[in-house]
Amino acid sequence: MEQNRRRQYLEAMGIQTWMRRDADADEAQVEEATPQPVQVPEKQPVVQVKTPAEKVHKAPVPAPSRAEEVPAWMDEPPPFDDDFIPADLNDDIPLDLEQGLKGRTDIARLDWKGLEQRVAECQACELHKTRTNTVFGVGDREASLMVIGEAPGADEDRQGEPFVGRAGQLLNAMLLAMGLQREQVFIANILKCRPPNNRDPRPDEALCCEPFLKRQLQLVRPKVILCVGRVAAQNLLKSQETLGRMRGRQFEYDGIPVIVSYHPAYLLRSPDQKAKAWQDLQAAAKRLG
Ligand code: URA
Repeated sequence: MEQNRRRQYLEAMGIQTWMRRDADADEAQVEEATPQPVQVPEKQPVVQVKTPAEKVHKAPVPAPSRAEEVPAWMDEPPPFDDDFIPADLNDDIPLDLEQGLKGRTDIARLDWKGLEQRVAECQACELHKTRTNTVFGVGDREASLMVIGEAPGADEDRQGEPFVGRAGQLLNAMLLAMGLQREQVFIANILKCRPPNNRDPRPDEALCCEPFLKRQLQLVRPKVILCVGRVAAQNLLKSQETLGRMRGRQFEYDGIPVIVSYHPAYLLRSPDQKAKAWQDLQAAAKRLG
């Protein structure tokens, strides 16, 4: 039964499975389509992003039951991906940054309740003028895995919850394939408000919102961070590298391992990349222990 459910999750992600039939067994075994062990680059230097934070040790979530096999061709270095051109961090900044950032140092000391309230009331950047709801983040506040996306879209802006649209449904399926329910992880975004027309977050907006995510990371203190998409990865890791170049490498944020993968919205447009995303999820699952 468990295996059947697992097969459904993988198929929901668009990953092929095959059934092994034992002569004397009614239950068929569910296998991934391919037999090569996943390669997690163990020896690469870890790129660290440091922030001050206390360390809290948590019990690991149970390891995914069986997710270690991918085809050999997936181990090839990812090609350069035209879709992920680094944001121009020298864009015009229309906002008075000093005003936006004024008096925000106390955010680093807020508890969950205070933090939620500050996000709900935030007017630090211009996005507050066009938002319907702020999107604080959702899930287990003691999660071992924290997923970080880019910014709310139209559905998220309407409902005040991250990843509730089609991309969110795929994210849920991806998490389930790792053996995790959506409720077992904490999901947040770089921005708490929707940029109009889903444009990329501007550097000033990301800067204004940064203390919120930083504090969430300090409070959750996950064992692993899964960063989905170029914008999330570039902002969290303070990098301008393409997503293709960040995938498969080891990063740290304040001592927490960061796995970089494709954004589910990109995977909806490019399902042929799902196998690579699955490889990333397996790397994250391995880190979760
Ligand atoms: N895309 C994101 O990056 N975050 C969301 O919450 C929804 C879509």
